[in-house]
Amino acid sequence: METHGRDTILSSRQSTATRRRIILFPLPFQGHINPMLQLANILHNQGFEITIIHAEYNSPIHSNYPHFTFKSISDRFFELATKADAGVILQYLNRSCEDPFRDCLTGLLAEYGEGSVSCLITDAGFHFTQAVADSVKLPRMVLRTSSLGCVLAYVALPFSSESGYFNLTKEDSNYETSVPEFPLMKVKDIVKMTNNPESMGEFVSDMLHQMKASSGIIWNAFKELEERALETISHDFSIPSFTLGPFHKYFPASSSSLIEQDRSVLSWLDNQAPKSVIYISFGSVALITESEFQEVAHGLANIGLPFLWVVRPWIVPGSQWLEALPEKFLESVGDGGRIVKWAPQQDVLAHPATGCFWTHCGWNSTLESICEGVPMVCSPCFVDQPVNARYVSDVWKIGVFLEDSFDRVGIKKAIKRVMMDKEGEEIRERITSLKEKVNLSLEEGGSSHQSLKGLVDYILSF
Ligand code: UDX
Repeated sequence: METHGRDTILSSRQSTATRRRIILFPLPFQGHINPMLQLANILHNQGFEITIIHAEYNSPIHSNYPHFTFKSISDRFFELATKADAGVILQYLNRSCEDPFRDCLTGLLAEYGEGSVSCLITDAGFHFTQAVADSVKLPRMVLRTSSLGCVLAYVALPFSSESGYFNLTKEDSNYETSVPEFPLMKVKDIVKMTNNPESMGEFVSDMLHQMKASSGIIWNAFKELEERALETISHDFSIPSFTLGPFHKYFPASSSSLIEQDRSVLSWLDNQAPKSVIYISFGSVALITESEFQEVAHGLANIGLPFLWVVRPWIVPGSQWLEALPEKFLESVGDGGRIVKWAPQQDVLAHPATGCFWTHCGWNSTLESICEGVPMVCSPCFVDQPVNARYVSDVWKIGVFLEDSFDRVGIKKAIKRVMMDKEGEEIRERITSLKEKVNLSLEEGGSSHQSLKGLVDYILSF
């Protein structure tokens, strides 16, 4: 088990730290619950008692965390059309959770008694909680579950229809050009971020405002990857930032999955040649159309390499699972390909047979790939993913961007660049070097290790 200096912090802290309680509140989505529960475990190991307030929707599995106290609140999520855009969903949750959260928090503070709760840590996306925390005089820190670069993009980008960007299509002449407000991104990237720029803009503005009003930001990130972004944010936000990630490296593979992971894939991987397998997953939320799904299948068949493809039920709207596969696809690939509903992703990425990760660039997936030194093919879907993908391909140069949606010719070319070309070898060298930096950052004296110490001291000072 890799502990990366964790035990050293533990032994020195547990003797001195009073066991004080921290209340945490994640957004109810897999990609947000995972890092919040990992953070809770890290802080528990530092001597804090943990209470998690969570929405009913996507409830964490309590029995996996007997050392935590859980309190569930009603989110009225069922009242929302599931097809709504991310900005709409997030603003809705900020309204629907407000009263039940306030009641729950007030009840907990009365139950635990004055001075026994150190602080509240909420997902940065739950911006309404700053006013609640202020009203009960409890310090609030935020956990930002995506990259620092994404926050820089959110600060810079004009989320509104009036900007003229969000209604552009392939046919428009500046679709391929850089966005002057944040030149790393092309117009075609930011178009992907949202279908509803007004709602997204409202959410982003509320979130940034209340992040600045908080007592500090905890990032599931490590300093060496985003040093310049960290400098800018530390300067512009004027509150402490703690980059103690990647959280999942503090423990063996995490148990916060809400869906059962099909572990049989690991013995299948054992039978594949080193670095030969393409692993494909688009995370827990993204949907793809039937024709995109078929292009993925044709692309994989054309490249002829072994693959492990995560197809969540309902990922293709209108299909329960694999009905939309091209005829005879499964027979033609035989044992050369595996399709599963949900995989033990961290183990798959750590497996020597895995050669590349075709990903939607959700931040957890991106970090997990970096930690295992697996080059990426990027197919971002929405919100923060296009930003992460641009950093992966254009800044860190540890993956290639599948530029124009899913088509079998483009898919084959992108995978070939990573798996077979000289370019792929260079990409692999760069991501292997980042993997080494991650490990160093978690060692005693490394940046993440130091940041965790700083965070513990900061919380104890409240
Ligand atoms: C969401 C957003 O979509 C993403 O953009 C944001 O950065 C975080 O919240 P999600 O789309 O689920 O997350 O992607 P990601 O952040 O990559 O998280 C997925 C998590 O599920 C990862 O921790 C991954 O290890 C896990 N996973 C994924 C599995 O355990 N098994 C799988 O088969 C696929």
